[in-house]
Amino acid sequence: MTDPKTLASRFPGDFTFGVATASFQIEGATKEGGRKPSIWDAFSNMPGRVFGRHNGDVACDHYHRLEQDLDLIKEMGVSSYRFSIAWPRIIPEGVGWVNEKGLDFYDRLLDGCKARGIKTFATLYHWDLPLALLGDGGWTARSTAYAFQRYAKVVMARLGDRLDAVATFNEPWCSVWLGHLYGVHAPGERNMEAALHAMHYTNLAHGLGVEAIRDVSPNVPVGLVLNAHSVIAGSESTEDKAATERAFDFHNGSFFGPVFKGEYPASLLDALGDRMPEVEEGDLAAISQKLDWWGLNYYTPMRVLADASEEAEFPATKPAPFVGETVTDIGWEIWSAAMKSLVMDLYDRYDLPEMYVTENGACYNMGVGADGEVDDQPRLDYYADHLSVCADLVSEGYPLRGYFAWSLMDNFEWAEGYRMRFGLVHVDYETQERTVKKSGKWYRDLALNFPHGN
Ligand code: NOJ
Repeated sequence: MTDPKTLASRFPGDFTFGVATASFQIEGATKEGGRKPSIWDAFSNMPGRVFGRHNGDVACDHYHRLEQDLDLIKEMGVSSYRFSIAWPRIIPEGVGWVNEKGLDFYDRLLDGCKARGIKTFATLYHWDLPLALLGDGGWTARSTAYAFQRYAKVVMARLGDRLDAVATFNEPWCSVWLGHLYGVHAPGERNMEAALHAMHYTNLAHGLGVEAIRDVSPNVPVGLVLNAHSVIAGSESTEDKAATERAFDFHNGSFFGPVFKGEYPASLLDALGDRMPEVEEGDLAAISQKLDWWGLNYYTPMRVLADASEEAEFPATKPAPFVGETVTDIGWEIWSAAMKSLVMDLYDRYDLPEMYVTENGACYNMGVGADGEVDDQPRLDYYADHLSVCADLVSEGYPLRGYFAWSLMDNFEWAEGYRMRFGLVHVDYETQERTVKKSGKWYRDLALNFPHGN
């Protein structure tokens, strides 16, 4: 069912439709306006880390094309824009002096959204840690959590009056495990002990950040965006089912546990507790303060088999083969049913507040055809399929309040560089020309046809 009008009619009138981006992935201008390098500037300039050694220097040149891009968001018919704020623009060295010019940029962004009637959902941390903090250990150091708290305060004091919602972190799973255990993201470490430190200090930073935000801007709803994994056992065997439960604890419980229950999962503590940093008195209380909302980023399921090999570290799992017949261009299985079972499972296990799908979307790399159009039907189908699941969740009473497509436009896809495209809008990186894709026009029809004008 891909008719946008029919799909739109399945959502309540106050449902939010939006588009999402992140600072490092679109802004460019990495050396302008007082910004200093982030860990991603350094990482992307090292050989062998990012496809084609692509970097964020220009990206979508959004920093210089702000007004044009806000017009584009308006044209997409959506009510809301989810973006992130670059810490290295605001406090370029992580601690110390505050860069007014950096705040000015987001000031213009927020004013531009307000002038166009677009609601603003800001993320404080979408992976661009000021490089200077790496000298003290980056996320493996407790001091970084306090530096984050101060950054949160500075941002809210200047921008909080025009924010409709704020998230502390985007996908800590990536910045923690991909960045410190699997070595795929900045800073590129492969060390369990470092990763466990990053896990706890990121959680602590979230908690301290929530305190700072509530202190300065008590009326802005605060949340956290998590890429919860829909872990699915690859077989019915007892071993694979047990492995799947361990995978849940490791991939989800490491964040959902402390944040929504005030505790790390017992299996994680048993297996790895002695390599974790000290959890000081008051840490878990700060981390588990009640949130106003949480955001789910969902793309693909995680199918799990037990890994019985000697070297396998907790959670001792390996990937199981895909069941879905189709994968997107980045190789991720399409399986919308997992999105539904995941949300149901999470609400069963934890006392969760209301939620948004803060990211969902698909990677397809087709370009502009001879007719000037981008025919990305598979992306359109992916959106229709997953939005239909969202409508089911709403009708079954889950407190899902909104949906953000990832992404507004093609952008820097981290270790994949610019070769992987997730946009509703195509970006020609030579000319910076934006072309709304077929999926983008479809999403616009959905948002514009929304019963209450969205
Ligand atoms: C999650 C991340 O938040 C975003 O930065 C990334 O581009 C998308 N997923 C696609 O991988």
